[in-house]
Amino acid sequence: MTRRSTQAMPRRQFLKSSLAAGAGMMILPGGFVSGANAPSNKLNIALIGVWGRGARHWHAIKGENVVALCDVNQQHLDKAAAEFPKAKHYVDWRQCLDHPGLDAVLICTLDHTHAFITNWAMLRGLHVYCEKPLANTVAEARLVRETYLKNKHKIATQVGTQRHAYPNFNRVREWIRDGAIGELKDVKAWGNRQLRKPGYLPDAGKPPKHLNWDLWLGPSPYHPYNPGYVNGKPGLNCLNWNMYWDFGSGQVGDMGSHTMDIAWWAIDGDRPTSATAKGDAFNPEVTPVELTTTFKLPANDWRGPISVSWLQGGAMPHSPRNFVDLNKIGHGALFKGTRGFIVADFNNRLLLPLGKDTDMSYYNRRAKEQMLEPLGDFQGEWINAAKGDLQTTCNFDYGGTMIEMMLLGLVAYRAETEIAYDGATGKTDSAKADQYLTGNYRDGWNLVG
Ligand SMILES: NC(=O)c1ccc[n+]([C@@H]2O[C@H](COP(=O)([O-])OP(=O)(O)OC[C@H]3O[C@@H](n4cnc5c(N)ncnc54)[C@H](O)[C@@H]3O)[C@@H](O)[C@H]2O)c1
Repeated sequence: MTRRSTQAMPRRQFLKSSLAAGAGMMILPGGFVSGANAPSNKLNIALIGVWGRGARHWHAIKGENVVALCDVNQQHLDKAAAEFPKAKHYVDWRQCLDHPGLDAVLICTLDHTHAFITNWAMLRGLHVYCEKPLANTVAEARLVRETYLKNKHKIATQVGTQRHAYPNFNRVREWIRDGAIGELKDVKAWGNRQLRKPGYLPDAGKPPKHLNWDLWLGPSPYHPYNPGYVNGKPGLNCLNWNMYWDFGSGQVGDMGSHTMDIAWWAIDGDRPTSATAKGDAFNPEVTPVELTTTFKLPANDWRGPISVSWLQGGAMPHSPRNFVDLNKIGHGALFKGTRGFIVADFNNRLLLPLGKDTDMSYYNRRAKEQMLEPLGDFQGEWINAAKGDLQTTCNFDYGGTMIEMMLLGLVAYRAETEIAYDGATGKTDSAKADQYLTGNYRDGWNLVG
């Protein structure tokens, strides 16, 4: 292989071929140097949404070629430029995605833009890491997953649910799979965050010059500028906008993405066949704080059908034993089986066998050497996958079906009725509910582009 022929090969294909040739350093004819750390083996990455959560990913991509930075706030671009001085700046992600030679994008923008940027990026053959939640509507979640499934032979994807790398996720999964609570019947995940807002913020006049408000809104219906949407603490500013229907899905997509992940990993979840919801009175501007959504999930190859619920904002499952105070666990999951319960949060778990004479002889505990391997570095898994076998734990199939179910709960909530759901078509049995499966977008914005 000559240097000329290497350059002629599409860059992503070259990255994979050079990695497949061996993990160590490789000198190619013509003096071209390759290998895990060689410049030629680095990903050309664009970071879209560079401040706040975006800044928490700087360390993970520092070893790659960060060639493009995109943000609607010039002051945020300036901060990131100090870290990545060689990167070209963009204000509009649609232009950023066409940066020459791009391999991958890391998306940390507002929730209502995730599916748009993600889908456009995958259609360009780019590897994508997208912050949670992956989508804002059921239809968006389905589209993103479908695009991923069509392109999974060439791209690596990861939803930003980084807590998934905590060892407890695997330990809970092992307990369930090895029968520590018998046959699984019911799962309830909950979160206690409560952010009450009356409605969209009032018009506060012109946005500052350094902020492109029109692009901040992006596909969302128009809302006047108010600094209250943008002046939160870095990495927590999402709590200033994610409860508004046009920008987010409240705690369903926020902590729901992380906490339902404990359950989703343990149950091998798939699209539900029904959904019901109850919660706060409907507010057309703000998503509910208190909410309980319940789904029926079909059987799979290792368990029967189960019920899965998400509870938030004060709604809580009943504790299986009065000496276990679930209210002391801010974000957790309760698994019920025929032989007992598991109570889990992100880092801890409790096993509660049922009945006075339980001997747990039914529990087929796996040997140490059969325990699931640690995931390791979460962002690193995606970067390595993009250069290698494309395999990630929270890819857009896994994360896509989970957020599709979670968002379907909001559809049932808005329709105020139990709905039957067909995962194959993405339709419910209610015309009223079907209208809430998709979003309202401003003219000129398209999920496919
Ligand atoms: N995985 C986690 O633990 C975690 C933690 C916090 C936030 N998040 C997620 O990260 C995302 C960002 O949250 P945040 O609190 O950093 O929000 P933020 O409001 O601070 O926005 C992040 C950055 O994106 C920029 N931005 C906004 N719209 C943009 C657009 N259309 N194009 C380019 N840049 C744009 C902002 O100017 C800012 O620099 C949210 O989706 C949130 O759910 C994830």
